[in-house]
Amino acid sequence: MISRFVPVLLGGIFILLMGAYGDGCRSEREVGTTTCVACHDGFSGSDQSEFLESSHFFMDCETCHGPGGAHVANAGRGGLFIDNPDTFGFLEGIADCADCHQSDFDGFLESRHAATEAASCIDCHNVHRPGGFPFDAEEGLPLNSAQYAESCAECHAPEVSGTAMSVHGQFEIATCGTCHDMHLADTFPQSPEDNSLCLQCHQYNLPDDAAVDFHTGGFHPVDPAGSGASRCVDCHMLPHSAAGGILVSSDHRLFTVAPEVSNNAIEAGVVPVPPNTCGGVIGCHDPGVPGSGVPHDHTNAGQNSVFQVLYESIGDIP
Ligand code: HEC
Ligand code: HEC
Ligand code: HEC
Ligand code: HEC
Ligand code: HEC
Ligand code: HEC
Ligand code: HEC
Ligand code: HEC
Repeated sequence: MISRFVPVLLGGIFILLMGAYGDGCRSEREVGTTTCVACHDGFSGSDQSEFLESSHFFMDCETCHGPGGAHVANAGRGGLFIDNPDTFGFLEGIADCADCHQSDFDGFLESRHAATEAASCIDCHNVHRPGGFPFDAEEGLPLNSAQYAESCAECHAPEVSGTAMSVHGQFEIATCGTCHDMHLADTFPQSPEDNSLCLQCHQYNLPDDAAVDFHTGGFHPVDPAGSGASRCVDCHMLPHSAAGGILVSSDHRLFTVAPEVSNNAIEAGVVPVPPNTCGGVIGCHDPGVPGSGVPHDHTNAGQNSVFQVLYESIGDIP
């Protein structure tokens, strides 16, 4: 009778042990946040104690890291027996975030950052810190330009230095987050195509179509979303796409480039001749494209001289 139950009993004990030390030798036992922080205090393990003051304090470490029993039983040695989302695949590592940040997640999934797998939530954010960034950031406040530089310069140095050189950057008027939201598919909370991105502020010096018409010399019909002729970024963020369709960095200094700049390059023998605000950019006085205005070949010195005169007649604020 008893002997018939021995295998069952042993099996039961084995299953219980598997329960406690499942995943081979990985324990399914949870130890709780207090135990984790006891070591992750910067002495035994990396310091994660600020987690207790972060927005995520109400969660257990193990919600994201999985049960830590075996990791602790091994005294954390080698960082073994614990999940580190950073070592998961691009999307697997951030799957947990979607549970609570659905709208940020949905927009992000359609962004270039996701498409190129260049930067995910956890490349920009540190969920263990108050404020949510690897650097000091105050909760709820928009980041300032120095903080954006820390976040973005590694991959977008030209845009960071360009913004810093612009009037916007010099006087902390606008920084990356004013114009870009990393959790939207195209990053724009307001569109640069219909000028609303710029006019949300520049309404003060360009209050209506007549003012924009005057600003652009009277020969760039105000139809930003259509013709593009009066689109702020087409003149002020050159070149967003160089001849040949190669995407290059848009000029975040917001400078316009005079046709004589191309002529200076021609004189100095620079090849290829750089584009200017009027010519050399697809869609702007592009010789090859119908409907893009009077053709202007920016490699032709004579044409640049003519356009220089026209250029000098635009840019005034009424
Ligand atoms: C007995 C001390 C100790 C305890 C308790 C402890 N850890 Fe660790 N942990 C370490 C050490 C040591 C390392 C390796 C060095 C480092 O990364 O800090 C480590 C590494 C890690 C890593 C990095 C793993 C990797 O891939 O490199 C994670 C994640 C981690 N611990 C999470 C936790 C969590 C969650 C808890 C609570 C369930 C916890 N730790 C409890 C000592 C401990
Ligand atoms: C909301 C989910 C979440 C919670 C809660 C969480 N972590 Fe993490 N943890 C992550 C992610 C994601 C990474 C990988 C990205 C990174 O390093 O920030 C990580 C990385 C780590 C690392 C390795 C990185 C390093 O700097 O050594 C340790 C150690 C760690 N966490 C410990 C903890 C501890 C201890 C707690 C609780 C006090 C905790 N985590 C709470 C999501 C979380
Ligand atoms: C269980 C729900 C939950 C999960 C899972 C979660 N968060 Fe949060 N998170 C919150 C709450 C609640 C707040 C505070 C309110 C807010 O800002 O939305 C917050 C705030 C934030 C903030 C704002 C900055 C701050 O710290 O106040 C960031 C950034 C953030 N979370 C990133 C992440 C990332 C990245 C992940 C995935 C690794 C993640 N969260 C997973 C609930 C969660
Ligand atoms: C390229 C960097 C980058 C990526 C990728 C990124 N974020 Fe952010 N996130 C930021 C910045 C910068 C801010 C602060 C915006 C500001 O200045 O107010 C922010 C703010 C937040 C906030 C607080 C404000 C809010 O929208 O509620 C949350 C929550 C958040 N991010 C979650 C996420 C999640 C979840 C993911 C992934 C799906 C993610 N972020 C991906 C850079 C990033
Ligand atoms: C680890 C590298 C990395 C970091 C960090 C990073 N980015 Fe990016 N970013 C990229 C890559 C790669 C692309 C896609 C380029 C392409 O499409 O060819 C991109 C694209 C973009 C775009 C263009 C989006 C579009 O739809 O065309 C914007 C805007 C942008 N990033 C802003 C930011 C900002 C702001 C930060 C800092 C908060 C940041 N990025 C941090 C790598 C990064
Ligand atoms: C005044 C608004 C504004 C500010 C501030 C701004 N951007 Fe942009 N950014 C734009 C616009 C508009 C475009 C698209 C230009 C176009 O389509 O010609 C763009 C394009 C980009 C791109 C796509 C590649 C490229 O250069 O065309 C990246 C990356 C980028 N910005 C990063 C940044 C970073 C990083 C910061 C902060 C240092 C920043 N931007 C600040 C408006 C801005
Ligand atoms: C957050 C508000 C804000 C946004 C958004 C904004 N600007 Fe500005 N901009 C300003 C202010 C304020 C000034 C400084 C005005 C002054 O110098 O009199 C300025 C100055 C400028 C200047 C003048 C630089 C100089 O040399 O004097 C240009 C050009 C400019 N902005 C273009 C743009 C363009 C193009 C956009 C859209 C891509 C844009 N701005 C978006 C607020 C903004
Ligand atoms: C057809 C090209 C063109 C378009 C479109 C255009 N600008 Fe300009 N803008 C210029 C030129 C050229 C200057 C003068 C630059 C200089 O003198 O260095 C200028 C100058 C400016 C200045 C500085 C004026 C001053 O005197 O301080 C601001 C601000 C400005 N533009 C904002 C805008 C805004 C906002 C839009 C969109 C509504 C816009 N621009 C559209 C060509 C253009």
